[in-house]
Amino acid sequence: MATNSTSIEASQPASVYVREATRASHERVGSAQGARWLAGGQLAKEEYAHYLVLLWHVYDELERSLAAHANDPVIRPVYVPAIFSRADHVAADIGFLLNTATAEGAWRAHPMVAGILAAPPQVLIEYTARIKYLCAEHPRLLVAHAYARYLGDLSGGQIIRKNVAKAYGLDREDGDGLQLYAFRALNRDAPASANEVKVLKEFWRERLDGAVGGDVELKVALAEESKLAFVLNEGLLSTLKGPAYECVYVPGRGAYNIVRGGASSNKSVKTLVVLASIIGAAGLAHYLYGGGRGQ
Ligand code: HEM
Repeated sequence: MATNSTSIEASQPASVYVREATRASHERVGSAQGARWLAGGQLAKEEYAHYLVLLWHVYDELERSLAAHANDPVIRPVYVPAIFSRADHVAADIGFLLNTATAEGAWRAHPMVAGILAAPPQVLIEYTARIKYLCAEHPRLLVAHAYARYLGDLSGGQIIRKNVAKAYGLDREDGDGLQLYAFRALNRDAPASANEVKVLKEFWRERLDGAVGGDVELKVALAEESKLAFVLNEGLLSTLKGPAYECVYVPGRGAYNIVRGGASSNKSVKTLVVLASIIGAAGLAHYLYGGGRGQ
């Protein structure tokens, strides 16, 4: 399968072209340490909320930028804020997870959030600066950032949702704290079921294909910008601090190591290693891991 945008058949619809062009980028971000902590529900609850605060800034910038260009013929078809916009959803999750007052925007006063606002991580500055730049100079490329976030939330996000719910004791029925992953169905005013989420993905891809049509230059530019979006997301994930304890399977040794974490995900985890067991000791490892996370 081709992974280099220059070797992908240019006549492919934009959604296929971009997916193929970003395959390697997705594999890299998906296997990053921070992504594995996130997807496995291994982050401490406040660290997960911290990540959501970073994401809120990205969605806020992106969605205000898309709104500013809502009449552009390439943006208009894929800009359906009532279904896809995430900033308000993420804000609701942050408020719920940090247990802040329900008044709109109260979560911003939380000390952790105030800390991020006072000194945003460099990668967040770069991410929002890129969106601002595109908004001013190349608004159509904002579509690449919408692609990376929205299709990601509709895809891997649905898997992450299950583990996040389990890790933080969130009720999957009422959805409090899980709004990031909750989409409204396309044709009815109700939450989308798993099948309807697939319909939304197809809808977004078809809209993208229609908007880009046979414009090869635009397809290539969107693919390149999407790769950058993945890199920026990898950067956000690299700021995450690991769980207090982590259970790491060591291939070849048939063993689980219990690793004392708390390391930033862009460093190799410095081990304070206890060799927990050899084959068959997964139960003990899980027990220790669960205790360390207070589940
Ligand atoms: C955190 C770990 C992640 C996991 C476990 C994961 C998992 C997945 C899976 C299973 C799919 C395919 C779904 C399908 O076939 O319908 C997918 C698609 C996708 N993911 Fe991820 N993902 C992760 C991280 C990310 C990140 C950080 C981004 C970028 C912000 C991202 C963006 C996407 C996009 C854009 C698609 C749709 C590809 C397409 O069909 O065009 N993912 N992801």
